[in-house]
Amino acid sequence: MITFDYRNADAMVVGPENGLNIQKEFTEYKERIAEIISDLNKRKDKPGQWLQWMNLGYNEETLWYVKEYASMVRGRFDNILVLGIGGSALGGIAVTEALLKPYWNLLTKEQRDNFPRIFFLDNIDPDSINGLLDILDLKKTLVNVITKSGSTAETMSQFMIVKDRLEKELGEDEYRKNVVATTDKQTGVLRQIAEQEGYKTFVVPDDVGGRFSVFSAVGLLPFALVGIDIDEIMNGIKDMDLALKNTDINENIAAQYALIQYLLDIKRGKHISVMMPYSSRLKYVSDWYVQLWAESLGKNTDKEGNHVHIGQTPVKALGATDQHSQIQLYNEGPNDKIINFIRVKEFDTTLDIPKIFEYTGIGYLGGKTMNDLINAEADSTRVSLSDYERPTVTITMPKLNGYYLAQVLYMFEVQTAIAGELYNINTFNQPGVEQAKNYTYALMGRAGYEDSAKTLQMKMASV
Ligand code: PA5
Repeated sequence: MITFDYRNADAMVVGPENGLNIQKEFTEYKERIAEIISDLNKRKDKPGQWLQWMNLGYNEETLWYVKEYASMVRGRFDNILVLGIGGSALGGIAVTEALLKPYWNLLTKEQRDNFPRIFFLDNIDPDSINGLLDILDLKKTLVNVITKSGSTAETMSQFMIVKDRLEKELGEDEYRKNVVATTDKQTGVLRQIAEQEGYKTFVVPDDVGGRFSVFSAVGLLPFALVGIDIDEIMNGIKDMDLALKNTDINENIAAQYALIQYLLDIKRGKHISVMMPYSSRLKYVSDWYVQLWAESLGKNTDKEGNHVHIGQTPVKALGATDQHSQIQLYNEGPNDKIINFIRVKEFDTTLDIPKIFEYTGIGYLGGKTMNDLINAEADSTRVSLSDYERPTVTITMPKLNGYYLAQVLYMFEVQTAIAGELYNINTFNQPGVEQAKNYTYALMGRAGYEDSAKTLQMKMASV
């Protein structure tokens, strides 16, 4: 299993102003935490609670359909093009970047074991969309359009462009074989289009929000299409889920982590949470975490309707790269952060540094490995942050594979749900995101948004 080390967030290491008396806090919050965990597990099957993501590890049916489709299209496509944004893209990007061989899209077909390349369009920059579409052979491209609501302007505008080009290249009938849609099972514009056009579809299950959807067909389908072992992922979720059902805070790492983050925020002013994996392959896990933490916990009101304006600001960093960029600030700037490290114990590769230039000041590196170096840098950064009384916590993955990665992501999801209960807010809504979406619809002339458009035009004119 992955491990969680919180010693460097303790007052004994970083001082009473910046750290917590963690054992004392665990004892004080023992009952509250037990209550939260049993309540989440009790509510998870109830409609409207947005907790269905807690069941995704056991969704054998989806797993079966995903595998069946992936094997049916195996060998037919050179590229997978995923269209989606936010929760419909970030999990896919994080997992494929972590689990596929590095520089996957640059490998030959043989090196990819005949699996396709994969591209995510998660923005609406006209140059990059056009640039990508110009280089992809659309005849050999399977387009997976993913949107739970079925109407997100960014995703659907991309899809309109791609559909148009596909149809021109492949013809009115044939193009449909190159589209697979992942969306709500009944509602939304994409569902309507998919039914009319006869696309193959997968479902974003009810009561699973975008940022909690990585283990639904949203993620599993692209993973299976590029040959990622999705059984291994499911096993990781299931084992972690079992461990996180434990209501004892001393045994439950998601609860420990949630409580430490929450208390550091409200009691010690650590309003920023920096995610810093020491692995390039985990770089996009930080992007995924940033969305999960920000959208879930950044809220205006609590459950009683009081104005609270809470939520830690998540920030992404990468070790060792950002030691040469952000660490100066983290060590000496405002002491308002908790730094979260993710470490990989055993990398796939052991990369020797040759014993050359021994007569120079870099001679000491020769004979060591890159593995020694990255681990030494993670250790030394942690110690130096402690010297400056900056709290840190560390998650360690024994290896970087689907089993442990699924544990990390699922643990973060549960941690977020527990933190939301501690903050006493609705973890699963996103009114701030919806407002921006509605303004976009209004500005772009969507029917039904005429009044918002008028108000918006007036506001825009006055600023
Ligand atoms: O987590 C969320 O709910 C959001 O980030 C959504 O995933 C994002 O806005 C995209 O929405 P949709 O999947 O409806 O296109």
